[in-house]
This record gives sequence, C-alpha cells and structure tokens, in this order.
Amino acid sequence: MDSLENRTDRLEAIKRSIIDNEVCSELAKSATRLVFGDGDLDSQIVFIGEAPGRNEDLTGLPFVGAAGKFLEEMLGKIGLRRNQVYITNIVKYRPPHNRDPLPQEKKAFLPYLQQQLEVIQPRLVVTLGRHSASCFLPDIRISAEHGKPKRLTLAFSGERLSIVLLPLFHPAAALYNGSMRQTLIDDFIQIPDIIRALNRDKLAANQQLTL
Ligand code: URA
Repeated sequence: MDSLENRTDRLEAIKRSIIDNEVCSELAKSATRLVFGDGDLDSQIVFIGEAPGRNEDLTGLPFVGAAGKFLEEMLGKIGLRRNQVYITNIVKYRPPHNRDPLPQEKKAFLPYLQQQLEVIQPRLVVTLGRHSASCFLPDIRISAEHGKPKRLTLAFSGERLSIVLLPLFHPAAALYNGSMRQTLIDDFIQIPDIIRALNRDKLAANQQLTL
C-alpha cells in the first residue's frame, strides 16, 4: 500500500477535483464548505453517511452534531475512538434545509467516494442510512437488510477491491426512536467480530455473512 503521505496527497487531489470539476455547483453555492472526510487513513473501517448537516457544514468535519455524538458513543462500545476510523458521506455538501440528498447528487459524488475508498482500501465499509447503502446496493431495503454483512467486490478504474459492506440504520433516525436505537447498537457491536473474521481470513466459512 501507498505511504501515508502519498495517500494524504491523493485524498487532497480528490477533494481538489470535486471543487475543480464543480460537482453539484448549486449545492456548493448554498453550502459553507465541502465536507470531505476525516479520520485514520490506515483504518480497516470506513463509515459512510448521507450528507453534511449544519454542524458539519460549519466545521468541515463529518458527523460532529447529535448523530455524530451517537456514532462516537457506539464506537466507544467497541473500544474505538473516531480518530481510529475514517468517516465520510456520499454527498459532500450540505443540502439546503437538510433535505435528503437527490439521486443525481449521489450519482455525481459516487466516483469521488469510490476514489476515496480506492486510496484508503478499507476491509469493512459501514453505510449509515439508506442513501449511502443504495450507492452499493441500489435496491436495498434497509429495514430488511440492516446488520447483515455482505461481501462485495468494488470495481474501480484500475483495480478491484473486496470489501464487506455492513448496512446500518442512520444514527440520526435512530437517535430518538428507542427500538431502532437498540437495533442500531446491536448491529453496530458486531463490527469487532466481522473485523476479526476478516483478519483471520475465514470469511468464506463465516455463516454470519450473507453473500
Ligand atoms: N448525517 C450524515 O449523514 N452525515 C453527517 O456528516 C452528519 C449527519
């Protein structure tokens, strides 16, 4: 794998290209800034949310508001801090009034998300909410598929990346809904087991993984 310095430069170039290519220029105009991603580039785990909200738009960092606090709380339950994983969103500008990202906005940003993944090379991609899950599995029904890890091969321009995708409910949706909140926590705390299985390279034999 590339050196950390190289990967930092490559990510900076991807960020730059979003601006230079004027991706979703209407969103860019109404947002304060681009929210690209944050965290450990050596992490085996990448979390992908939907789009920045108000706090993210102000700070330039993903998941720093109420949903972010809940995400950090869940990370704590599995012994991780946010700076030990990488966190990003499919859409990198805040949609006006926090509306849902539009299909064309997700489509426009997807190549850049793929490039981010190509640089970081995670083994586990955790999608938060249906918008980011549907970038990988267009027909996914999150209510049926949450918490069920799936092996996927992502085909990039030059290479293929085998990952496990874990679709989860969005922390903002689960925050104030008692039963969804508990379901999200139950799904989330599987992460260490999935990582252990991946590292032992026993995936093929792992019954928990739906292929
Ligand atoms: N919700 C998201 O999907 N992403 C963020 O960065 C913050 C809240």
